[in-house]
Amino acid sequence: MASNRLSFRNITALAPMVRVGTLPMRLLALDYGADVVYCEELIDIKMAQCQRVVNEVLQTVDFVAPDDRVMFRTCERERGRVVFQMGTADPDRALTVAQLVQKDVAAVDVNMGCPKEYSTKGGMGAALLSNPDRIEAILKKLVSGLDIPVTCKIRILPSVEETISLVQRIERTGVSAIAVHGRFKDERPRHPVHCDYIQAVAQTVSIPVIANGGSSDPVKTNADIEEFRKATGASSVMLARAAMWNASVFAKQGPHPVEKVMEEYLKYAIRYDNNAFNTKYCLCQMLRDKVESPLGKKVQAAQTNAEISEAYGLQEFYQQIQDQLQTRRDALQSSSLPDRPVMEGDVTTMAVKFERREYPPQITPKMFLLEWSRREKLEQPLYEIVQRSQDRAFQATVTVADKKYRSSLWEKSKKFAEQAAAIVCLRVLGIPEGRIGEEDSGLVCKRKRERKLNGTTEEEETEGSKKRHVVDIKRRANGDDHEADAPPEQT
Ligand SMILES: Cc1cc2nc3c(=O)[nH]c(=O)nc-3n(C[C@H](O)[C@H](O)[C@H](O)COP(=O)(O)O)c2cc1C
Repeated sequence: MASNRLSFRNITALAPMVRVGTLPMRLLALDYGADVVYCEELIDIKMAQCQRVVNEVLQTVDFVAPDDRVMFRTCERERGRVVFQMGTADPDRALTVAQLVQKDVAAVDVNMGCPKEYSTKGGMGAALLSNPDRIEAILKKLVSGLDIPVTCKIRILPSVEETISLVQRIERTGVSAIAVHGRFKDERPRHPVHCDYIQAVAQTVSIPVIANGGSSDPVKTNADIEEFRKATGASSVMLARAAMWNASVFAKQGPHPVEKVMEEYLKYAIRYDNNAFNTKYCLCQMLRDKVESPLGKKVQAAQTNAEISEAYGLQEFYQQIQDQLQTRRDALQSSSLPDRPVMEGDVTTMAVKFERREYPPQITPKMFLLEWSRREKLEQPLYEIVQRSQDRAFQATVTVADKKYRSSLWEKSKKFAEQAAAIVCLRVLGIPEGRIGEEDSGLVCKRKRERKLNGTTEEEETEGSKKRHVVDIKRRANGDDHEADAPPEQT
């Protein structure tokens, strides 16, 4: 175990960056040569509410908030290299969150340097710098409660002596490394970095010191990383803005043209279904002064990863990935879920998909269910639909005679989701559903008789009946066209 622990000695790292340090950027930085990648700062209260979900379609581990937002997504490729940075001011909560993620990350870092309001409120981020007792309590709790390394990232204090006294206290908590951003709390990125402070810290402590604050001046290329390391006497270097602008700064032969870097970034964003607004934000950071160029304008106008792909001419790649993901989704659904009813709370579920080709034109399971309900003098089936955020798929639950039925498989459209729910209900109740090859039911025969009487073909019927059928299916989900589901009695 100990030998697998991440070492912070002599490394280059992607710094934690809110909105920037999501999975695509971290993977990109690793590809270009970063040894270690920090995630964006994630606030302990929000993370504590998350559930760990293995996403078998994307092949990721997701930490999902109650509102379905993916707060943190990681994958095998960054295993052993990703550091989870937390915003916290509470030792117990910090440990709860760190224990939630520790199986999936290489180390846990506490942000003690961010002066922005979202970080300092509640005593987190740079606010911790004036509360060394709290720092000590948090770090001690984490070090003793975790199996993985704990680190922290600070800014420098007004004097070298104060800074040294703080880092000595931090070192005594047992942390594995300390990142030092060589600016005072109220200094902005445009202010020069204080390499002498970092050097003083590096000379004092025996744990690895990770120098930070050198982007743009002095670090512009990979060679500058070494210069910054030497200038600070630190063991390691951590880059934020230089990497955000062009992640290939980590590449020994770099930097590569930013156009290429953006394309590689976008491919990861598509592959890992990154939030489109996050994708846009990161690309805009890379575009920098070209953000108002024709390409920049297209990126800004895009609302989805598909639209962003178009801006970069990557539609084909986007489609290929969607097809791959769908194939994986289908394979997983058909292999892993039982084809028999299972109770989930008060809902009877089955793994059922609606395949249009299995039913004659104009015949759907919903029609069968509606007709059967009428015959039984029951209230009309009531459909409720939910959509999940990760792939925008739909799932419907149908209520019939006060009982609920649902397919455990998710569908691409609301209509298909409703059909799947209807099939579950019909199968559980043992009622014909109108599938081709199923013994002819009254409904199918009736449709055939009607066609003969009218002298219409199936195709004509399909078009005509859409206009004629008017149904009133009560539903809480937003209104879809249900005409194709109306039984002929409703014309
Ligand atoms: C967009 C952005 C987001 C940042 N978010 C974080 C963060 O989440 N946690 C943190 O400790 N520092 C954060 N920082 C600060 C950087 O990690 C780093 O300390 C700072 O930018 C100085 O390093 P640089 O000169 O390499 O940019 C952020 C910086 C930027 C530019």
